Amino acid sequence: MIKHEQIEKNVGLLIVLTVLVVIWGGLLEIVPLFFQKSTTSPVAGLKPYDPVRLTGRDIYIREGCYNCHSQMIRPFRAETERYGHYSVAGEFVYDHPFQWGSKRTGPDLHRVGARYSDEWHRAHLINPRDVVPESNMPAYAFLQKTPADASDIEAKMRALRKVGVPYSDEEIAGAKKQLEGKTELDTLVAYLQGMGLEMKGAK
Ligand code: HEC
Repeated sequence: MIKHEQIEKNVGLLIVLTVLVVIWGGLLEIVPLFFQKSTTSPVAGLKPYDPVRLTGRDIYIREGCYNCHSQMIRPFRAETERYGHYSVAGEFVYDHPFQWGSKRTGPDLHRVGARYSDEWHRAHLINPRDVVPESNMPAYAFLQKTPADASDIEAKMRALRKVGVPYSDEEIAGAKKQLEGKTELDTLVAYLQGMGLEMKGAK
């Protein structure tokens, strides 16, 4: 029988037992989430990102928008009054990886979809100061000059299918065509406009 004192005086043993306790506690917290319906099934109406929005999402990641914007509305009054219904796990089941973020230099974007017009987003991304004079968000004007890269869209969709996003063969085959003539800015605006719509009116 090991006594408490023996554990405290033996650093190696203390480390091993601490690690075991942390692993056990972690498993107890995390494992059930993989089996709970509320965390694994999509909310009503949620669809996988179409090729245009998926490309826009990758631009969001490439440009590091998540460094200043979260996509995670917490269940507090101050948050829900400002942004709308708090975020729920079932809204993120097709996000690999999710873009929750943890820094809010700018506002949360989870329910920004349909809040502004496409024109507003374009003007704002080209030069934020044109629509919000006090903004310190960087300008992304170059995105309107770069064509959206369609070369790897099929591979991306196939990879997402492997982790559970239900893309059909037809959707993947038609993906390149949907990106024809689109700029990176177009795809980013499409991504933003689709954000958080499923639960926008939810109470
Ligand atoms: C350096 C921090 C910073 C970065 C990086 C940044 N933003 Fe912003 N963003 C802000 C700030 C601050 C605001 C609030 C002022 C404004 O509306 O411009 C904002 C506002 C916004 C809004 C309006 C939100 C609302 O509800 O009014 C959108 C949409 C947006 N950003 C999208 C983006 C996208 C997309 C990117 C990446 C291409 C990005 N931001 C990168 C700081 C940032």
